Parts: sequence; structure tokens; C-alpha cells
Amino acid sequence: MQLWKGRFQKALSKTTNDFNSSISFDSRMYKEDIEGSIAHATMLGKCGIIKEEEAEDIVKGLKGIEKDIENGDLKIDMECEDIHTFVEGELTKRLGDNGKRLHTARSRNDQVALDIKLYLKKEAVNLKEMLGKLVEVLCNKAEEYSDTVMPGYTHLQRAQPITFGHHLLAYAEMFLRDISRIDDCRKRMDEMPLGSCALAGTTYPIDRNMTASLLDFERVTNNSLDGVSDRDHCMELASALSIVMVHLSRFSEEIIMWCSWEFKFVELDDAFSTGSSIMPQKKNPDIAELVRGKSGRVFGDTMTLLTVMKGIPLAYNKDMQEDKEAIFDAVDTVKMCLTAFTPMIETMKVLPDNMRKAAAGGFINATDCADYLTKKGVPFRDAYKATGELVAVCIEKGTTLEELPLEEYRKICDVFDEGVYQAITLEKCANDRKVLGGPNSGNVKAQAQRIKKLLEKN
Ligand code: ARG
Repeated sequence: MQLWKGRFQKALSKTTNDFNSSISFDSRMYKEDIEGSIAHATMLGKCGIIKEEEAEDIVKGLKGIEKDIENGDLKIDMECEDIHTFVEGELTKRLGDNGKRLHTARSRNDQVALDIKLYLKKEAVNLKEMLGKLVEVLCNKAEEYSDTVMPGYTHLQRAQPITFGHHLLAYAEMFLRDISRIDDCRKRMDEMPLGSCALAGTTYPIDRNMTASLLDFERVTNNSLDGVSDRDHCMELASALSIVMVHLSRFSEEIIMWCSWEFKFVELDDAFSTGSSIMPQKKNPDIAELVRGKSGRVFGDTMTLLTVMKGIPLAYNKDMQEDKEAIFDAVDTVKMCLTAFTPMIETMKVLPDNMRKAAAGGFINATDCADYLTKKGVPFRDAYKATGELVAVCIEKGTTLEELPLEEYRKICDVFDEGVYQAITLEKCANDRKVLGGPNSGNVKAQAQRIKKLLEKN
């Protein structure tokens, strides 16, 4: 079914109709479409553009349609061109002429722009909540493992001792930025486009601010061409979600490594692992791998949106119908990933002994050994060189800085004394990094508390 039959003599061919139609994917916006129409009709009535009784009849009719869709009495007709066509057609079936009055001072162009914004504003809140839950889980785990020593890495080479809590909170910071990015995006899209009509606004004396406040929008769009042709909110949300996926993917990569026998820093709960059909010993981190893999979809969605938008002249062009599948897929994918990822982190078993063992190899206290000399007055570059030589001695003897006898230390630099062993204990090395933002256990706990308070305010 189409709304624009007047000037046509023939119906669309079946294949063209299928190609042209968006109802298979925009029917998910039926609630937003009805909500928008209710506000529009109410405003038309209040402004005297249609009669108040007509508006009331329309509102009642729309509510009835919504209820019937919800309880399964009304099936959305997939032969319709789009959800806007379906709702208006159904309303007209039910009300006759009053149904036909709804589209006064409106176009599907501003209607679709409105529906997407209403839909995405809700999803932005859902996404923020889901990310908030993940951050909370990370904070709780970080508090629990605030003094668990592990190696920190650069170039995937053991570098300096940190705490596991500190490592987890690095991700909490990333997801906090994601939350604020999504929130920024939600605020920017909080502009109501209805009244832009097809592209040039309308001669009817409509009250756009009234419609905006009925729909809980912060403000109205200020240019009718922009109102119908802007899809920044889709591109921006998809971009923000791409960054979420980068973070989830990096984290997944670490989880996957940590689950390997080479690391064995964590073990995932059975409920979040899979086995192999041939290798009985296998316990695979499929969930983390899927999250890592699904990042590609969301990046692709972002690229789709940018490409769809980049070459189209003002104002509406049908190309823009392609926005929905991309942004819906990005939103759905991130939600699906978070639904699996958060409980996977919450239930994973942390293996502090293995982290401690890994921290004991790889000379990750070498910087602290050099700092020890520096604190005794040796210039840092000399201390650095002396420690490098000590590491070489250890490698040759197959030992560690902790186990190397004092004479060996003193052969390289006579400033060393017994105190060096205390200075290079891994726990001390991690915990003495009390600098703001450092891995010290007290810091980690304080940061976790700060973040949790921040979440409460959000
Ligand atoms: N189904 C269309 C879309 O998703 C709605 C707007 C149609 N407007 C038009 N003039 N064809 O973009």
C-alpha cells in the first residue's frame, strides 16, 4: 500500500515494491510513529487546524492501533511501503475522513526524522544504563583485587608491576567516556523536526514548540531543510558505538589471552565458555571472541551511514532510508555484546597466584631497582645503565633481581646495600606508585568509589 497514488495509473510491480519498501525494518518504530502522530494531531487540534473533536478521535484511534499491535490483534502489513504508511492507512480504515486529516502539515520526511530521533533517544538511555552496569561490575572487581600484583605490559612485554584492580579500572575509564559520548549525542539529537514537513515548512499556523514539549524534546530544529535531511544523530551514535566496540574488543582480546595456558590469569565461568567437538580438553572463550569479531559490524555500520550521507543534496532523498538498518544493527549489536560481556566479567575467576608468578619473571622491578640507586644520589641514566647490566647478569645466571646475591650487585655499583631487596619486592613496587592515577591499592579503591558515585549521579 502506498500513500501517493493520485497521479499514478499503475501499481508498483511486486519486486519494485519490495525493493522500495522499508517496513521490514522500520516497523520496529511503530510506537514512536504513533507517539509522534498523537502529538501532531493534538497540536493540530489545539491550534484549530483541525477540530478538537477530530483530533480526539484521531488520538483515540492511534491509541487503539497501538494497543492492538501490542496484544497481537493487529498484524503490521508487510506489503505497506513503510510504518508511516501502515499506521495512517490503518487509522483511515478505522476512522474514515478523520484518519485522512492526520497528515495535515506533515510529511513522511519529517515523520521519519522524528521517529528515528525518538527511537534513538530511548536507545541511548538503554545503552548508557548497560554500560553503567559494566562499569559497576568493573569497580566491584577492582576493589576486590585492588592489591593483586600483576605485570603491566608494553609491546606485550612485561614492563612494570601494577595491580589487577588498576588494570580493570583502565577499562572503567574508557566505558565512562563512552557513556558521556552517548549522552552528548543524545543531547544533540534532542531537537524536534516535525513542522519541517517535506522540506519547506508549512503555511499552516502550527505550534512546533507545543509538539516538541508533548514529545518531551528539549527544543525544535531551526531549519526545515536541515530538519528533514539531518542524520548526524545516526552517524554520531554509530561513531560513539564504534568506539565502545573498540574498547570491548581490546578488553576481549586481553580476556582471550588471559584464558590461555600461556597466561592463565583468569578462568571464565562454564556458562560463558564453550568446548571443542574434537578436543576434549578445550575450554574456549568464544563469547569474548565473538565480541571482538562483532566490532567489525559496528564499524561497517558507521561506514555505511557516512557513505550514504556524503553525496546527497538537500533535502530528503530515498538514499536516507538506508540509515535505519545500519544504525539499528549498530545499536542491537552493542546491546547484544554487553548482555553477554558484563556477566562474563562478573563471573570470571581471577587467578592471583598466576598473575604473581608472571610478575616475578621478566624483571618488571628493574625500573624500581634503578630508582633505588637514584634515590641514593646516583644520576638516573647511570642507575639505568647499572640496572641493565644487572639484568644481563641475571639472564646469564638464570636468576632474578630478587635472588641475585648482593656481591653481584656491588660488583656493578657499590652504592647497593641490603636495602635493595626491600626496594624491589613486587608488592612494594606496585604499592609505592601512589601517584594520582597509579596502581596503589588505596588509589584503586578510592577510584572505584569515585566512579561508583559518578554512576549514581548519572
Ligand atoms: N521510508 C522512508 C524512509 O525510511 C520514509 C520517508 C519517505 N519519504 C519519501 N518522500 N519517500 O526514509
